[in-house]
Amino acid sequence: MHTSPSKRILSETLKMANPLLSFILLVFLSITSVHSKSTIEPCSGSDTCPAMVGYTLYADLKVSELATLFSADPVSLLAANSLDFSLPDIDHRILPSGLFLKVPILCSCSDGIRRSVSTTYRARPSDTLGFVAGSVFAGLVSADQIREANSLSGGGGDGLEAGQSLVIPLPCTCFNSSDNGFPAVYLSYVVAAGDTVAGIAARYSTTVTDIMAVNAMGAPVVKAGDIISVPLPACASNYPNSASDYGLIVANGSYAISASHCVQCSCGPGDLNLYCTPALLAASCSSMQCKNSNLMVGNVTSQSTSAGCNVTSCNYGGFINGSIVTTLSTSLQPRCPGQHQFPPLLPPPSSVIRESFLSPAPAPAESGGSLTTPKSSVPGTIALPGSSPANGPSGSISGACSLVTFLPGYFILTVLWLFYFSW
Ligand SMILES: *[C@@H]1O[C@H](CO)[C@@H](O)[C@H](O)[C@H]1NC(C)=O
Ligand SMILES: *[C@@H]1O[C@H](CO)[C@@H](O)[C@H](O)[C@H]1NC(C)=O
Ligand SMILES: *[C@@H]1O[C@H](CO)[C@@H](O)[C@H](O)[C@H]1NC(C)=O
Ligand SMILES: *[C@@H]1O[C@H](CO)[C@@H](O)[C@H](O)[C@H]1NC(C)=O
Ligand SMILES: *[C@@H]1O[C@H](CO)[C@@H](O)[C@H](O)[C@H]1NC(C)=O
Repeated sequence: MHTSPSKRILSETLKMANPLLSFILLVFLSITSVHSKSTIEPCSGSDTCPAMVGYTLYADLKVSELATLFSADPVSLLAANSLDFSLPDIDHRILPSGLFLKVPILCSCSDGIRRSVSTTYRARPSDTLGFVAGSVFAGLVSADQIREANSLSGGGGDGLEAGQSLVIPLPCTCFNSSDNGFPAVYLSYVVAAGDTVAGIAARYSTTVTDIMAVNAMGAPVVKAGDIISVPLPACASNYPNSASDYGLIVANGSYAISASHCVQCSCGPGDLNLYCTPALLAASCSSMQCKNSNLMVGNVTSQSTSAGCNVTSCNYGGFINGSIVTTLSTSLQPRCPGQHQFPPLLPPPSSVIRESFLSPAPAPAESGGSLTTPKSSVPGTIALPGSSPANGPSGSISGACSLVTFLPGYFILTVLWLFYFSW
């Protein structure tokens, strides 16, 4: 990425100004500048793979507006964040500014690197490239990248014409949907002020070593604005190539919707085996009963025998030619499985708790864990465990409010610095 001319001119100007002021402003600029790194995965061919981007809402947005922004399916977007997708009139729910969500995107291979190119944005009056890149898309793309992807000449400045349609290239990686040989889905994460690699690793159930390896980092150091790929432990599917949901992969603790909204699949929390059941979201679905059995997709029966437990299950096998494939499997297991545990589903929050990045953070999994039905809703409208930076182990703040909350931190440091030297 290149330094934008305006930033360079600004920093030159600053060098001539008050040295202390320029020091503070340069530090501030360096954390918000376009010198950010992002992780690039080379690719060839024209296949697509599933990935996610981490996005912090820049304004209150309806679920449908957010989905449109990323050309995503509203229900799938909620499911990926363990937000209750079966509530009535969910498209019109308003999600609060500052909320952090993982947005599922299709990762293509474009000009030899992995990136998502299916998002377009229609400019509104008074939009600028800087605002679209930094706020609307929360730093997932830079103004220069939008300019390049749309062959905009630099001469037009930062302004945009209302109604102008822009392709928004978004970062994504797949790395074969695996990490160290285990299924993983990759989240492109924009580093927020106050984030540390250890904090990010803990928040997403991965390790510092893994993040360093995936992002080819020499040292566990990130700065605000960098975009790193975070491998999320996940449940893989093994549907045939001909299935329209071939390659479906679901991150631990979340859900995915498939087969034209007829099937929902979840991952975790107990094990990392994909578990699919009928979704009850679509008006009509093809049969979900396994052949030669009275079991439906998701049904498991077991019988204790002298040799162990005889477990029979009816599993979802992919969406092929518009119909739901089912497979019946029987296996002998050491012990009979208990009732299936689902990842908890929360109601979409209506507000976000904003914390200072200096304050201690709550344990990430306080409300996670052991509900036995996907329909249960935990009341309240709080930040989401494990998916909101505002609630993460590092207690970092979200990108949308980073400018506002970061400045006082530097102000305090400056005061301390002056205090120190005045002695
Ligand atoms: C991708 O992963 C699959 C199994 O998930 C494996 O069979 C295949 O060899 C891997 N391909 C590469 C290029 O790593
Ligand atoms: C999956 O998530 C559950 C609950 O959030 C957690 O206890 C478990 O350790 C996670 N598994 C992996 C492999 O990360
Ligand atoms: C089988 O699955 C269906 C759909 O999820 C469910 O309604 C039914 O209770 C299950 N039956 C058994 C015996 O588990
Ligand atoms: C296991 O159960 C299935 C169906 O319930 C039955 O057809 C099969 O014979 C049983 N296998 C053993 C080893 O008991
Ligand atoms: C799907 O449909 C096409 C033609 O419509 C057919 O050639 C193909 O064999 C079908 N695939 C499966 C798996 O049924």
